[in-house]
Amino acid sequence: MSEPGPFADELLAGLRARPRAVAPKWFYDEAGSRLFERICELPEYYPTRTELALLDRHAPELAECIGADAEIVEFGAGASRKVRLLLSALQRPVGFVPVDISGEHLAEAAERLRAEHPGLIVRPLVGDYTVEGLQLPPPAGRRVGFYPGSSIGNFEPPWAVRLLERYRRWLQGGGLLIGVDLVKSPALLHAAYNDAQGVTAAFNLNLLARANRELGADFDLAAWEHAAHYQPSLQRIEMHLVSRCAQQVRLGGERFDFDEGESIHTENSYKYSVAGFQALARRAGWAPQAVWIDGARRFSLHWLQPASTEP
Ligand code: AVJ
Repeated sequence: MSEPGPFADELLAGLRARPRAVAPKWFYDEAGSRLFERICELPEYYPTRTELALLDRHAPELAECIGADAEIVEFGAGASRKVRLLLSALQRPVGFVPVDISGEHLAEAAERLRAEHPGLIVRPLVGDYTVEGLQLPPPAGRRVGFYPGSSIGNFEPPWAVRLLERYRRWLQGGGLLIGVDLVKSPALLHAAYNDAQGVTAAFNLNLLARANRELGADFDLAAWEHAAHYQPSLQRIEMHLVSRCAQQVRLGGERFDFDEGESIHTENSYKYSVAGFQALARRAGWAPQAVWIDGARRFSLHWLQPASTEP
């Protein structure tokens, strides 16, 4: 068990609040990162393979937009498959700064990229890019952001705008390549977040297992179930952990009472239309440029440039 830290503080605050909610960034400890990688391989989870195919197929155009001698800053760099596709298409990339809240794969991925791109300055950064205080190293070249996976979908639109504004400042005039999941049939969305093998359920439940491991909580995992559903009016998937019975949980010297059917809201995953995302980006001071979409219109990649040079 480690010292109480930001995870303990946020979990306690989230359990005291009504409705109860915890930010999805806490899914990603070592076990959670491994489960997420398994999600990406699931037949029902289309975003990863669709985005990889877009990156592969349009690599020359992406390289054209990004230009030579760029330093790529990747926000939420878990596994390195996507950025490796991108870097190998770029002309003389000078630097790569992978930023992730979980350090598990960062060092390994950095070594691999250094081997693949001799001379590339790789500076991994373990940190939370969703908070203002993150300090990026000084630029090694013209900065370009890379934010794949539709992680932007985790944020309610006003927070997504704030995050995109912050990226604009951090990138100091450079562009941003961002992956955004598209609105589609609720049946397809439902399947993607309720996979037959139960990997998404295990990923969701790992949050409670993590609280037990790291904070000494006593969540009985068998007494909780995974729930994910699409809210068409909000264009988002909501994930919850639902209490199967009336129960009590102890955490940090505090007792929490749950009714049968009461939930902890663990994730939102917003889906956008192309125009809807472009409007959001404009609110954050970005000027949308090219967009790439797969044939089934499941996923989009957007190239954004700052609307002006003012901060
Ligand atoms: C990493 C936020 C893009 O919302 O699809 C996958 C996380 N949650 N299955 C998503 C996730 C459940 C994922 N993002």
